[in-house]
Amino acid sequence: MTLQRNIGPFTTTAIGIGEMGLTIEGYPSHEQALETIHAGLDAGARMIDTAWAYYAPGEEEQTGEKLTREALDSWNGPRDEVLVATKIGLRRDFDENGKPIWPRDGKPEHLLEYGKQSAMALGVDTIDLLYMHRHDPEVPYSESIEAVRQLLDEGVARYAGVSNVTIEQLDIARGILGDRLIAVQNQYSPVHRETRDTLDYCAKLGLAFVCWSPLGGFRHPYDEHLFDPFREVAAARGVSYQQVTLAWELAQGDHMFVIPGCHRPATFLDSFKAGDLVLTDEELAKLNA
Ligand SMILES: NC(=O)c1ccc[n+]([C@@H]2O[C@H](COP(=O)([O-])OP(=O)(O)OC[C@H]3O[C@@H](n4cnc5c(N)ncnc54)[C@H](OP(=O)(O)O)[C@@H]3O)[C@@H](O)[C@H]2O)c1
Repeated sequence: MTLQRNIGPFTTTAIGIGEMGLTIEGYPSHEQALETIHAGLDAGARMIDTAWAYYAPGEEEQTGEKLTREALDSWNGPRDEVLVATKIGLRRDFDENGKPIWPRDGKPEHLLEYGKQSAMALGVDTIDLLYMHRHDPEVPYSESIEAVRQLLDEGVARYAGVSNVTIEQLDIARGILGDRLIAVQNQYSPVHRETRDTLDYCAKLGLAFVCWSPLGGFRHPYDEHLFDPFREVAAARGVSYQQVTLAWELAQGDHMFVIPGCHRPATFLDSFKAGDLVLTDEELAKLNA
């Protein structure tokens, strides 16, 4: 049995499926996207991370939430075991050069609408875990979080999380959501260690910390020299450096989760093995340096 951990009242796999790459620009065929999620679920993964905004700009019909629903509906395994997390507060658009961007939208009346749309797209009455995706600087953070609280009160979502937060924002969210706030999702990887303060704070508070882009992001995962120590440990162990990276993140505490992205079954299946990779103190000291 692969590594399992608790997020609030949910017990789930410490390694979840990061859905984003399957529906934003660069996405694979629909068939391959479904195969990838099914392969992850068949291997034992029991968490899927998606978002209202995981679609390519101009292709609003092909969203990550709809793909997640279709993958679960067409899967033969135990649907009830799978924790589905989604996020609201970002949209997709193009900038003036035609480059895809992620406009922020934390207006309370819009968040209330987005939350209900997410539940509908996922085909559920109540979303398991709903994150506020990113702070919209045009709206006081407390006002956006009040809208998330309203969605919990109305039963649109059961538990809440916050993403891309500072400690100050996390404290605002805690003050409003209380013990219905169960997770923080921040970027953390060998190339983004600056969120270490929130990671440590979550450990103190008993909140789950979910690392996004745990391999450095799907656009730049491969040739970053900061991965060199991970490659060295991987070579000695005879595993991929991605497995070592994920195992190192999970070793930062029992509150740690990772949601590696993937465009095909093989990469997720390799990453999922990180749940069985226990690094030695010596290896961890080298990687923590
Ligand atoms: N909260 C937020 O604001 C936020 C922001 C960004 C991402 N996220 C979440 O984080 C998830 C992961 O992020 P991400 O996809 O940007 O980056 P990532 O997980 O750091 O990297 C994914 C890339 O790594 C490759 N990969 C994964 N496992 C591998 C393995 N074992 N061997 C070789 N290559 C491997 C994948 O390859 P292939 O393409 O070949 O499969 C993909 O290109 C997203 O799906 C999303 O759920 C959240």
